[in-house]
Amino acid sequence: MNTSTISHVIQGNCLSRFSEKYISERIDLTFLDPPFNQDKEYSSCNDNLPEYEYWQMMEQVCKGINEITSDGGAIYFMQREKNTEYVLQCLHKTGWVLQNLIIWKKKSSAVPCSNKFGKHYQIIAFATKGMSSRIFNRLRISPPLPANYKYERENGVYLTDVWDDIRELTSGYFAGDEAIRKENGERFHKQQSPIALLLRIILSSTKIGDIVLDPFAGTGTTLVVSEQLGRKSIGIEIDLENVKCIKNRLKQISKSDNISRFYNDYIYTEKLKEIWDIEFAPAIPKKEEMLTLFGK
Ligand SMILES: C[S@@+](CC[C@H](N)C(=O)[O-])C[C@H]1O[C@@H](n2cnc3c(N)ncnc32)[C@H](O)[C@@H]1O
Repeated sequence: MNTSTISHVIQGNCLSRFSEKYISERIDLTFLDPPFNQDKEYSSCNDNLPEYEYWQMMEQVCKGINEITSDGGAIYFMQREKNTEYVLQCLHKTGWVLQNLIIWKKKSSAVPCSNKFGKHYQIIAFATKGMSSRIFNRLRISPPLPANYKYERENGVYLTDVWDDIRELTSGYFAGDEAIRKENGERFHKQQSPIALLLRIILSSTKIGDIVLDPFAGTGTTLVVSEQLGRKSIGIEIDLENVKCIKNRLKQISKSDNISRFYNDYIYTEKLKEIWDIEFAPAIPKKEEMLTLFGK
């Protein structure tokens, strides 16, 4: 695929950018994956702010996004489970209505705790502007059959609020090919989100032509997936090196960024072809070949 025409990358602090004309027109979905304030190494921001200051900033961000979101538009706010109550308060105070608290269960081992249960998930709060979603596509997936089930399911199951089938890009072996790496083999960005996660969010809460915002864009996973699904997207990222990475990623969609490998996971979704028009999928075979490929 050539240089992107429907994705837009802005370098800067998202807090001061929401009022810009082309951002403020109408956002249909936001993926909010800020630094979690856990003292991780970021070259362009402080990830160790006083708690009060951090949540004030998050409130400003959520309020700013709410103002530019279409009625019924969605936000998916990802955070550590430890911060669940702050996330819920923050969304509530800034005009969002909670729809689901999604549990993204990790594939890697739990973080051990000596005086409480080990931690094995991250939260993603899904909320809307107004009481109900303008778009909500009920996806069907086909997870492996539990051991006590006798018969195969004929057409999968509806997705619930527990997501345990998406592998995080953790260190070492698990990060696999999808993790962008420096020449020395180290991961370029330690918080890179998986393609499969954004695919699920964007498919659930948008239709073709909608506008997706990622105010803490990092390596641009949101834009890379939006582009392939025919959604317009805007990414804001403070770090210049990350901005360059996003532009590179969009210039040529790599094999590991290609969403087509996940098509079969959603094959039982009603009207899948309406929300995932494979004509938009770049660098993959033409429609007729795809139909053969996906056995439809
Ligand atoms: C958790 S990472 C996002 C990772 C992203 N989901 C991905 O797939 O690569 C958060 C990003 O926000 C950026 N950032 C931090 N403060 C920012 C701000 N005020 N405005 C815009 N970007 C910011 C950081 O540089 C970092 O890349």
